[in-house]
Amino acid sequence: MTAMTPEQLTKQVLAAYAGTPDPRLRQLLTSLIGHLHAFAVETGLTRQEWLAGVEFLTATGQKCDDERQEFILLSDVLGFSSLVDLINASDGATESTVLGPFYVPGAPVRAMGEQIGRPEDGSPTLVHGRVTDRAGRPLNGATLDVWQTAGNGLYDTQDPQQPRFNLRGIFVTGPDGAYQFRTVRPVSYPIPVDGPVGGLLRGAGRHNWRAAHIHAIVSAPGCRPVTTHIFDAENPYLDSDTVFGVKDSLIKQFRPAGPGDPADVSFVTDMDFVLAAGEDG
Ligand SMILES: [Fe+2]
Repeated sequence: MTAMTPEQLTKQVLAAYAGTPDPRLRQLLTSLIGHLHAFAVETGLTRQEWLAGVEFLTATGQKCDDERQEFILLSDVLGFSSLVDLINASDGATESTVLGPFYVPGAPVRAMGEQIGRPEDGSPTLVHGRVTDRAGRPLNGATLDVWQTAGNGLYDTQDPQQPRFNLRGIFVTGPDGAYQFRTVRPVSYPIPVDGPVGGLLRGAGRHNWRAAHIHAIVSAPGCRPVTTHIFDAENPYLDSDTVFGVKDSLIKQFRPAGPGDPADVSFVTDMDFVLAAGEDG
């Protein structure tokens, strides 16, 4: 009897899953098993390293609760979330980027132009633009679900001093596709490093700062929704965003307000959103 080789074992495992009835699931499992086995063979993975991996993933799951999603954070810092975005992008639509772990569904629907934060949250900023289809036609009834941190770099869900849904809101366009909302100029913030993902970043010698941004999920009837950000062009972390979320087309100037701008804001930024036709949600 000759000893079993890694190749023989991989073949045996793949054969065991070859009968998976759902063709897409079969494809995903076959590819995943193939790459996972190849990873262990290529690196000569030790038992200790295998166990460390199991413990790391266990801790990642245990760090998750209703408001903390450590697995999404892990996917983000590995660039995997951004990769999935790229693979699923629609030509001609606004580029998407990571959802991140801080999205909370159910934000209040606000009046057009309303301020989503409090005076103490930062520099008052007007964000405005239009939501159109790829031909430039305005989209009526488009929904912008926006969220961001306060000037202290914390989301409401991380900060007991902020009321629930602070710096979050939903805005719905009219027939002209135009939108505007008041917020504060976004700041850089560190992603949380008190969990396993923090250990990973420390081990890799990477910083944990995100380039300043406002999150938006933009959707409209009959269109593919886009999950994206508006980045501040003057931010120092655009080239080294810890979750690889920055795309050139999403970088916008936050210009000082001038004559013709509302008197109650210090900065103004323009951001148009383009949606591709397709399935809602
Ligand atoms: Fe964020």
